[in-house]
Amino acid sequence: LVPETRVLAVASHVVYGHVGNTMATFVMQSLGCEVAALNTVHFSNHTGYRQFKGTRATAQEISDLYQGLCQSNLTDFDVMLSGYAPSAAAVESVGTIGIDLQQKAEKRPGSFFWVLDPVMGDQGRLYVNDDVVPAYKKIAPFADLILPNQFEAEVLSGIKITSLATLAEAITAIHRIYSVPHVIITSVQLFKLSQSGSTPPPPENFLTVIGSTTRSDGSPRLFRVDIPALDCFFSGTGDMFAALTVARLSEAVSAAGDNLRATKSWVSPDIVAATDLPLAQATIKVLSSMHSVLERTMESRNAELAVAVPAHNGDLTTEEQAKRDYLRQTKAAEVRLVRNTRVLRDPKIQFKVQDW
Ligand code: ATP
Ligand code: PLP
Ligand code: MG
Ligand code: NA
Ligand code: MG
Repeated sequence: LVPETRVLAVASHVVYGHVGNTMATFVMQSLGCEVAALNTVHFSNHTGYRQFKGTRATAQEISDLYQGLCQSNLTDFDVMLSGYAPSAAAVESVGTIGIDLQQKAEKRPGSFFWVLDPVMGDQGRLYVNDDVVPAYKKIAPFADLILPNQFEAEVLSGIKITSLATLAEAITAIHRIYSVPHVIITSVQLFKLSQSGSTPPPPENFLTVIGSTTRSDGSPRLFRVDIPALDCFFSGTGDMFAALTVARLSEAVSAAGDNLRATKSWVSPDIVAATDLPLAQATIKVLSSMHSVLERTMESRNAELAVAVPAHNGDLTTEEQAKRDYLRQTKAAEVRLVRNTRVLRDPKIQFKVQDW
């Protein structure tokens, strides 16, 4: 188990399957974290199914739940992990909670660490309202670690990532604009970017995770990990990455003789090489767990889809047939979480961290 870590997890809840808080809560609890889940939406299933029922919390409802914690002194969190919020006002509520927890932590020994997953979009497009972007830009300066995907990194940095050089510029810009000490871009297809700079790209069909912790002068220290891409689209993997990162960062920081609640001295000891950073060491373990769980998920998915579906009574239109197939494939790709706690807790280390 990782060191005792109290986490406020603010993200979506789904009745079926594992994304958002239904992913993050289980992952962090499996590793021994004490998790308080504040759910921002209550949906039947993840949006990848293209249909769902349920409700979104208003900004007021999110603040009310937090006020409830405050009135009974239930706010001794070491970490807040914040993910999807359903409106710009909800994003601002989450920001207010982060700022309040930070202020409360200053009055007790130790500190507070905010991991922000700025959920805005993917694959070149926004899937939230336009006004969510400025809301994230406003709260990002209060975060300690930001976990954008490639598109979100472009939005936050204002830099289009078209090459290795612009990728490094985007991370540097995020550090600088939001004075945030830690950044990880959770996946980039490097082989698709043009080859400027000295770093050789990995072969095709690899994903690259790039992270950085600043030095005390604010300059970046970049590391990268290449992982083979599996031929499957998963939902909830961003949340899984974030949850594992919380637990493993707490562990790595403690191994370095510090802890997330102590002073943030571990943030920028300038002598530490990028590959030895707590953030980099955490990332290796995170990715090793993820890869094993996703490999098993893909095996189960393939087995499930290999079974013939019973014939439908009556005729289905081509469209109905396509929808039925799509729903079946989406369901089959749900991350196989609960039977795989062993690889969450005790991953076989299978990746290497490299200097950028
Ligand atoms: P977001 O959650 O914001 O969409 P993202 O697009 O970067 O972020 P993913 O593409 O889900 O998120 O990647 C997050 C992590 O999940 C990756 O670092 C990788 O470890 C794992 N992952 C996701 N999809 C795959 C895949 N097809 N093959 C291998 N690993 C994957
Ligand atoms: N939250 C909700 C409501 C979703 O529908 C999804 C994905 O479809 C997620 C979270 C997970 O997103 P990701 O795959 O980026 O982790
Ligand atoms: Mg994605
Ligand atoms: Na992300
Ligand atoms: Mg995400």
